[in-house]
Amino acid sequence: MTAEAVHHRADRPSSRIPGFYRLDLNARHHELRERFDLTDLEIELLRGAGVDGVGIADKMVENCVGVLRLPIGLGLNFQVNKRDYVVPMAVEEPSVIAAASNMARVVRASGGFDARTSESLMIAQVQVLAVQDRCWSRAAIEKAADRILETANQRHPNMIARGGGAKSIEVRLLDSEPQMLVVHLLVDCQDAMGANIVNDMAEGVAPLIEEVSKGRVCLRILSNLADRRMASAHCAISEELLSREGREGSAVAQGVVEAYRFAAADPYRAATHNKGVMNGIDAVGIATGNDWRGLEAGAHAYAARNGRYEPLTRWWRVGGKLHGEIELPMAVGTVGGSTRVQPTLRVLQKLLCVETSQELAMVMAAVGLAQNLGALCALASEGIQRGHMNLHARSVALAAGVSEDRIDDVAAKLARIGQFSASAARRIAETE
Ligand code: MEV
Repeated sequence: MTAEAVHHRADRPSSRIPGFYRLDLNARHHELRERFDLTDLEIELLRGAGVDGVGIADKMVENCVGVLRLPIGLGLNFQVNKRDYVVPMAVEEPSVIAAASNMARVVRASGGFDARTSESLMIAQVQVLAVQDRCWSRAAIEKAADRILETANQRHPNMIARGGGAKSIEVRLLDSEPQMLVVHLLVDCQDAMGANIVNDMAEGVAPLIEEVSKGRVCLRILSNLADRRMASAHCAISEELLSREGREGSAVAQGVVEAYRFAAADPYRAATHNKGVMNGIDAVGIATGNDWRGLEAGAHAYAARNGRYEPLTRWWRVGGKLHGEIELPMAVGTVGGSTRVQPTLRVLQKLLCVETSQELAMVMAAVGLAQNLGALCALASEGIQRGHMNLHARSVALAAGVSEDRIDDVAAKLARIGQFSASAARRIAETE
């Protein structure tokens, strides 16, 4: 992997906004207006003023009947490759953004995250069946590589002009019944996620592949196992910064390592471990208009690459520091897709302020690592339920029909008595 060059903008806002969570919604918007130079319209978009409403949705999907909204929060304190990022996250689970922001603060105090990406190569797959001699067909396809690439690239001159396009092919023989071979077209998608371009190229080169292989092409589609479009992040945390709830930082660090070892030894645990990683990555994927199902598919397929399902992160201790790293496919774009049609996404892009898809991929890897650390620290000490339920209490009060101005008060009381039922919320609202 190559370290990705980042262009530093001197006037970049800090991702530290102490006490942001304590401000009310108006005050948070005021803070953002000041820091990010947001216009009235942009603030209105964040408020969900209906500009992104059903009219746009109706143009996006068939049989549209409405829109479902998700809360958008900001992952704060992130510093990746010495650069600050305020990270928009769209997620319904109460503790996700709080946990990521807390852990990003701890990592920041130890120098932040180092992150890297590979090139932005997506894989198009073309399935070839009914060949008489697979080795002969493979050689014939390899010989025609230049023509195949040219055919693919002719269809996307704009991508070529941006320095991207189909770069090479690989031919794989599969041990399958029936026997088949698969052509991989490696396409540099630059800042686009690239699904449409890659699928179009796969379809475009199919007749030529059929001709030269003397076989029959069936499927022509990208692979979500985007292992040529990888992102990784690393952090090294001074262990004393991890102390919590009367537990020494070194004991928490040891708990994190033991939790990782559990996931490394047991796919049942690894699935949950990785779910926690994807809590953060998906939330950023959604807030940046990316295909989070594709991210999920890529992450889990990569986790199983060694023939066994494994954790996407790794944790270890050296010299008073807890080290963590994450590496996974990260097929994300910063241009095209739904970012073009949904104005709110453009406001969120302005907050995140990444210049390339590779930069976005690195931030998302860092968020996944922070999210995982948050879960493991809690699991290895007080458990996740208390923090989770304290935050969830507001949703309980809301669902119980408590009026909006009393939600925080009722939620605080629910947390104090440790009861989180709708009936308890109603009782508090009525009697106090
Ligand atoms: C819950 O959404 C995520 C966790 O289960 C992740 C984990 O167990 O590592 C807390």
